[in-house]
Amino acid sequence: MDTIIYPTTNLAQTQTLTIERGDGAYVYDNKGNKYLEGLAGLWCTALGYNHSELIEATKEQMSKLSYSHLFGGKTHQVAIDLADKLSAMVPVDNAKVFFGNSGSDANDSQIKMLRYYFNAMGKPEKYKIIARERSYHGVTVAAASLTGLPVNHAHFDLPFDAIGVLRTDAPHYFRNARPNESETGFVDRIINNLEQLILREGANTIAAFIVEPITGASGVIVPPAQYYSKVQALLSKYDILLWADEVITGFGRTGKAFGCETVGIHQPDMMTLAKQLSSGYMPISASVIRGDMYEAMIEPSSKVGVFGHGYTYSGHPVACAVALKTLEIFERDNVFAHAEKVGAYMQKRLSEFNEHPLVGEVRGSGMLGAIELVANKNTGLAFSDGVVGHFAMNACQQNGMITRAVAGSSLAFCPPLIVTQAHIDEMIEITAKSLDQTLDFVTKNGLLAV
Ligand SMILES: Cc1ncc(COP(=O)(O)O)c(C=O)c1O
Repeated sequence: MDTIIYPTTNLAQTQTLTIERGDGAYVYDNKGNKYLEGLAGLWCTALGYNHSELIEATKEQMSKLSYSHLFGGKTHQVAIDLADKLSAMVPVDNAKVFFGNSGSDANDSQIKMLRYYFNAMGKPEKYKIIARERSYHGVTVAAASLTGLPVNHAHFDLPFDAIGVLRTDAPHYFRNARPNESETGFVDRIINNLEQLILREGANTIAAFIVEPITGASGVIVPPAQYYSKVQALLSKYDILLWADEVITGFGRTGKAFGCETVGIHQPDMMTLAKQLSSGYMPISASVIRGDMYEAMIEPSSKVGVFGHGYTYSGHPVACAVALKTLEIFERDNVFAHAEKVGAYMQKRLSEFNEHPLVGEVRGSGMLGAIELVANKNTGLAFSDGVVGHFAMNACQQNGMITRAVAGSSLAFCPPLIVTQAHIDEMIEITAKSLDQTLDFVTKNGLLAV
């Protein structure tokens, strides 16, 4: 092994795949093998690889102003333009934008701005945040505390109590419904659990509820249709802010500009953006809050003399220039409408796997999808560990497609938004072959629970 400490990797694992270059929807390894990028890198390379206009935008900005910052009175036009553009796009009222470098640090910034805001409003006790089981919000100490996945907590002594995270149900009907419970019954039960949590803790102590409109890294959970209208009613009843983590669902991934639109979240108070914001070409994120929240933060900052939060690379000019170009291309080429159309085709084709003996559920929206492999198709019994999911993921890789096993045994699909129906057909063909190989493996090893 080399000297890298690999992120989100089994450190005892010795096998790596060296990716050397990318072009369009494909990447190539150092032996010349070609792979369809079925996960858009890490859910981010919306416009694919080797995009000449993004490369040109990078070069131009590098030559003009390779670095400058936004601290203490300095600014630059590309950051101003990008913030204006985002503010006009998002469904957040009079949106103000704070720039960061990753989804995780953007969520940390949100936590800090929430505290700043409620302190300014004279409500320092209103700092807790409700987050769901099986959610993914990143891995910095604070963001990992919001994340609801055991792997991100184990051995790190997380979550940190001081963050004040309250945990509520994952809205996953297939996995979490009780025997014979209807979808409506399921939603009513978990909404009632949420209300009981709020009453138990006291609404005056709860600042916000963070949701991924559709979860990504924890297995692509699409909540039942009535879920978000009931969530929104409850949050307004108790005066709790709705914080949409759109790090994966933002910018056309679900076929609309934002996942909020797809799932019927009308006006989130806060939104976190990253990944597709720059099509993954440069690290950049945005923490978006309501304008009046920002207004409230002005006075305390003037008392202290500074709003004491900011990164060296907040609003990095090259990252901003690439993001601006990305947004321009999204608009000019109607990329979201394309994603909606090809995404509908992808969902239709993925649903064919419902018939496969290993598949318990096919789910998704737009160009985001997952198929969950199960040990017993009739009962939906999950495999006890991630071995089968990993086998299927590796089979896909050997057959020429990159994907990811998430939440144990779900295979995730999240190709670049620019793919065509022919790419989707290729993706389905590789998946079908890989699932059959996985079924062989599972059968030979007696892993099915029949
Ligand atoms: C919904 C969501 N929030 C936050 C993050 C963290 O982003 P990053 O890996 O850029 O820190 C991710 C990453 O996958 C994500 O999916």
